[in-house]
Amino acid sequence: MAANNQTQRYAHIIGWGKYAPPNTLTNDELAKRVDTSDAWIRERTGIVERRIATKETTATLALYAAQDALEVADIDPKEIDLVIVATSTPEYVFPATASIVQDQLGAENAGAFDLSAACSGFVYALSVGAGMIRSGQHNTVLVIGAETFSRIVNWKDRATCVLFGDGAGALLLRGSPHYGGVLSTVLGSDGSGSELLIVPAGGSKNPASLETVMNNMHTVKMNGREVYRFATRVMVDATKQALQKANVPLEELDMLIPHQANARIIDYAAKSLHLPPEKVFQNVEHYGNTSAASIPIALVEAIEAKRVHPGDHLVMVGFGGGLSWGSCAVQWTIPTVTRPMTPQRAAQSRLRYRWSNFKSFGHRVLRRVDSGVSKVLDRLEGENNGNGA
Ligand code: COA
Repeated sequence: MAANNQTQRYAHIIGWGKYAPPNTLTNDELAKRVDTSDAWIRERTGIVERRIATKETTATLALYAAQDALEVADIDPKEIDLVIVATSTPEYVFPATASIVQDQLGAENAGAFDLSAACSGFVYALSVGAGMIRSGQHNTVLVIGAETFSRIVNWKDRATCVLFGDGAGALLLRGSPHYGGVLSTVLGSDGSGSELLIVPAGGSKNPASLETVMNNMHTVKMNGREVYRFATRVMVDATKQALQKANVPLEELDMLIPHQANARIIDYAAKSLHLPPEKVFQNVEHYGNTSAASIPIALVEAIEAKRVHPGDHLVMVGFGGGLSWGSCAVQWTIPTVTRPMTPQRAAQSRLRYRWSNFKSFGHRVLRRVDSGVSKVLDRLEGENNGNGA
């Protein structure tokens, strides 16, 4: 549904959800695979454990997070105008993971695309989604960050495999003429640092070959020290810029939701911004770096911990491969107490998604039948034309 473009519009967050695979990998377990230790990982990163997808894929993680966001907002998937999935670990090169999620959700009236900006992806996607709403192009936008980095790390490289984990988080945005929601966004990029954090093969520069596979070029390569230096600088600057653009003084910031890559980077930013620990959310110890999923997962956990309240000013700030960075100032506007999930609501929701799956299956079958029948009809028409000549 297109929104009325005559009045100023704001993109409010009306739903939120997260999903992390239940399978946990602790530092001690990792230490049995590579030459590392729980003490080293904790001290240098703050990470204690991470979630690793087993049978899940990026699309299924995204779908579960999105379903939760829709439950919170209590809206029908048909009301969604656009689905954006921020990811660096998509289901395929194409089709977009967002299209798979759109189909499985039953978001029949939505457009869908993936957005690639590495660990800054979620903030970029939020910025695009909010912009679509502000411009009047769309009214209801689902923004998801979803990753399965466990599928692209080199499990023999101790410098990177200890850092990452899998998960997904989703926010549902809706247009409103009332002030609040996403107040400002800041996006940045410095491609001169593109080699510092990279998966070198699988794209047009180094397409998949025996050589790229043998040389482990489809996995994450990182210059940790340089990325660390970059991250500490941009987190502070981008947070200040988003607040300034939103006309919110730093003293009125209630909660910083930073990208969860490393506790030391987060602590450095908090100290530089003179923010006390209660104003900075951290959950990197339980998830590791889930890339584009880390900010929405952290926000949802902050909400669940009752650390977000109506009227609060939040900043979400991310950084990562590109090099890229982004921040976003938000005024929270709605109560965070969600309706209890009654057995009736749960059953209704299960039925809705089963029905979506069934309809999707039906469409696939129908497409095949249609293609087969069309071929037969074309052949018959050709024969008839031949006979008539
Ligand atoms: N276990 C034990 N030792 C390890 C190790 C591990 N998992 N990984 C690296 N080391 C070793 C190195 O080999 C090196 O040994 P050496 O001195 O004998 O050569 C030593 O630890 C120090 O390595 P260094 O890379 O200098 O460590 P560091 O203090 O910079 O910490 C990171 C490494 C990766 C934790 C840190 O650089 C970092 O967090 N960078 C940012 C990464 C990031 O956030 N990436 C994602 C961005 S979205």
